[in-house]
Amino acid sequence: MSAAKKEAKRITTHVLHAMKEQGEKISMLTAYDYSMAKILDAAGIDILLVGDSASNVMAGHETTLPITLEQMIYHAQSVVRAVERTFVVVDLPFGSYQGNSTKALNSAIAIMKESGAHAVKLEGGAEIEDSVRRILSAGVPVMGHLGLTPQSIYKFGTYNVRAKEEAEAQKLFEDALLLQEIGCFAIVLEKIPATLGRKVAEALHIPVIGIGAGNGTDGQVLVVHDMLGITKDFNPRFLRRYLNLFETIKVAAEQYSNDVKSGTFPSEDEQY
Ligand code: KIV
Repeated sequence: MSAAKKEAKRITTHVLHAMKEQGEKISMLTAYDYSMAKILDAAGIDILLVGDSASNVMAGHETTLPITLEQMIYHAQSVVRAVERTFVVVDLPFGSYQGNSTKALNSAIAIMKESGAHAVKLEGGAEIEDSVRRILSAGVPVMGHLGLTPQSIYKFGTYNVRAKEEAEAQKLFEDALLLQEIGCFAIVLEKIPATLGRKVAEALHIPVIGIGAGNGTDGQVLVVHDMLGITKDFNPRFLRRYLNLFETIKVAAEQYSNDVKSGTFPSEDEQY
């Protein structure tokens, strides 16, 4: 029996580690609101990430930088209220942990206390080691995030594939080992060569979840608005769209508008 099914009540870090050990792939999607989280929990998604991509897909910002800790907590509360089984991870937003481990600890505690989420995620490797250690010392599970780290977009300059060069690949590999050694329960790898994704997943005993990191990782994560086709102008190679909800919702809204304007809605049966 699969590790996730055996412990069908709730996904925990322990279940996620058992899944890796048994070679059972881990499914992860982002979620930012109650209604969507309820559907994704019912679908059996293992991890829901309250990602700072909310800054893009919920608030319409160009980058993830503007979203605040308070806004992340609001989204996390909505998601946590919806789930029965899924493990909920929340991104620490830009400016809430970098360069100040006390601030990092306070941010992580605020998220855990006020939202009831199960873990936090931070972007970066050796440069955020103090913050990660401090949060872990409070008993808060931490997920790492390496490769393309969107909070550093102005350092990178582009959203292109990361770690194609040997030096950057080597640093990523060492950062992954470091995050595991200091106690992270899992790591996300974003937009890196598939060979490197596989190499990291094989070297680590904690789960490695990829987004644009190839098929050799222990699981996959996508932004839910992208995989459902609610966003339509974002088309990276790694994205598989399962629906075209932009068109589906647009057609429904057009029909509704026509019905209102023509006076055919509400009908006799739809009024008191
Ligand atoms: O914020 C987010 O959606 C993420 C995923 C891309 C992993 O960090």
